[in-house]
Amino acid sequence: MDILLIGANGTIGKAVATELGQRHRVISAGGNSGDEHVDLTDLASVEALFARVGPVDAVAIAAGNLHFGPLAEFTPEQYAIGLNDKLMGQVNVVLAGQKVLRDGGSFTLISGVLSDDPITYGSSASMVNAALEGFARSAAIELPRGLRINVVSPTVLTESLEGYGPYFRGFESVPAARVALAYSKSVEGAQTGQVYRVL
Ligand SMILES: NC(=O)c1ccc[n+]([C@@H]2O[C@H](COP(=O)([O-])OP(=O)(O)OC[C@H]3O[C@@H](n4cnc5c(N)ncnc54)[C@H](OP(=O)(O)O)[C@@H]3O)[C@@H](O)[C@H]2O)c1
Repeated sequence: MDILLIGANGTIGKAVATELGQRHRVISAGGNSGDEHVDLTDLASVEALFARVGPVDAVAIAAGNLHFGPLAEFTPEQYAIGLNDKLMGQVNVVLAGQKVLRDGGSFTLISGVLSDDPITYGSSASMVNAALEGFARSAAIELPRGLRINVVSPTVLTESLEGYGPYFRGFESVPAARVALAYSKSVEGAQTGQVYRVL
């Protein structure tokens, strides 16, 4: 398969590239890194990426920014970061990609454990992750030509504990390599409309 991996240089993306790169051609993309540069928040940038790369069999996303902070101080502008970047950034990939993926191709999106297991300061993450999962369940029943869509929802990564650990007390972390297996199931399997929780 030809697989477009957006966020390939990140903590999760590197592990996904290692897992899928053993069996497939992986085209890496990122904001400032990889074979191709793209800004997910800009639909025109995503369309230009697909125009450059051409038809692929799968698109996997391991990117998305949002703001963490106390509810009492959250502003609409801070919620807009997550809505425009992690949520609409991935929706933009589906909007543009549904026209160019090969028949039977797949989208794999990234959400996270906070959709149903919240932490302090995580209201934007919980909102965005739940929205992504709802979007994918619905998109799965409308996508044409046998296209599939799934979401990977990991808990905190072992590789990220140094930064995130204090916010995730009591959570058992998972190595990025295990998260990458969920991407493998989505890309190389046959299911659609699924949320793969990696806990
Ligand atoms: N780490 C965790 O513990 C964890 C747990 C659950 C869920 N998640 C979710 O997993 C996703 C990836 O997390 P991560 O920790 O692997 O992130 P990361 O290490 O910060 O890597 C993010 C990657 O996304 C790319 N990127 C960022 N913004 C972009 C944009 N607007 N357009 C295109 N590419 C962009 C970056 O490219 P450049 O470096 O080239 O800019 C980088 O390759 C996030 O949505 C995060 O919420 C992470």
